[in-house]
Amino acid sequence: MKQLLMPPVIAHRGASGQAPENTLAAIRLAAAQGAKWFEVDVNISRDGIPVLHHDDDLARCSNGRGLVIEKTLEQLQTLDCGSWFDQQYSGERVATLDQCLDLAIELQLAVNLEIKPCSGWEIPTTQAIADVLKQRPALPEILISSFSHIALQCSAELLDFIPRGSLFMVAPPDWKKLTNEAGAVSINLHANSLLDAGSVKQFHNAGLGVYCYTVNTTAQQQELHAIGVDGVFSNYPKLLLEALPI
Ligand code: G3P
Ligand code: MG
Repeated sequence: MKQLLMPPVIAHRGASGQAPENTLAAIRLAAAQGAKWFEVDVNISRDGIPVLHHDDDLARCSNGRGLVIEKTLEQLQTLDCGSWFDQQYSGERVATLDQCLDLAIELQLAVNLEIKPCSGWEIPTTQAIADVLKQRPALPEILISSFSHIALQCSAELLDFIPRGSLFMVAPPDWKKLTNEAGAVSINLHANSLLDAGSVKQFHNAGLGVYCYTVNTTAQQQELHAIGVDGVFSNYPKLLLEALPI
């Protein structure tokens, strides 16, 4: 098996159970809770700047309305991305990818960048992310992942020096072909997918690390560890880190 990249616990969207997801505050909290890796979702603004946001739409995680891709960065930066979660985070701004990477370096964290393009925007989104990564003087350790096979293939071309992980809800029948084409080092699956020790072994035999999202209880963490899963994404990294070693 290729060298495993990520540790047993990865903070999902930052420590998103206790701070607004995909914000700098959630990344800071993940570090404070002892996480060494965090995952964030990356989309682009209308003017092509990569920003952290999970949904296409702004409504759930900000006081904005409409789509991320419809707004310029300047417009996005006027939004409050914290009050929806808790008043203590009011005024939290949308984070750019650049800010996220600066913070990762400052906090000595590694980053799983999940490319989260709007449908049809897979290539421009990946290109914009590649531009940011290539222009920076320094990068933290990074794994790029995506549900979009197009984004992964584009990333393999533009950012061949950064490892990739293939994301699925459930591994499809042609997972071997797809992970191969993506040059993936890991397969990242929903925690309730059809995983058992046999399938985990097959993925390992294919040279893939196996990671599951989103795991928020130590019971599920232990079940997945018992069948050989290498690590889990959690909104509560502190809880799961405290349960280690399993
Ligand atoms: O990368 C793991 C996980 O974040 C994938 O699902 O919807 O939380 O981005 P989602
Ligand atoms: Mg994600």
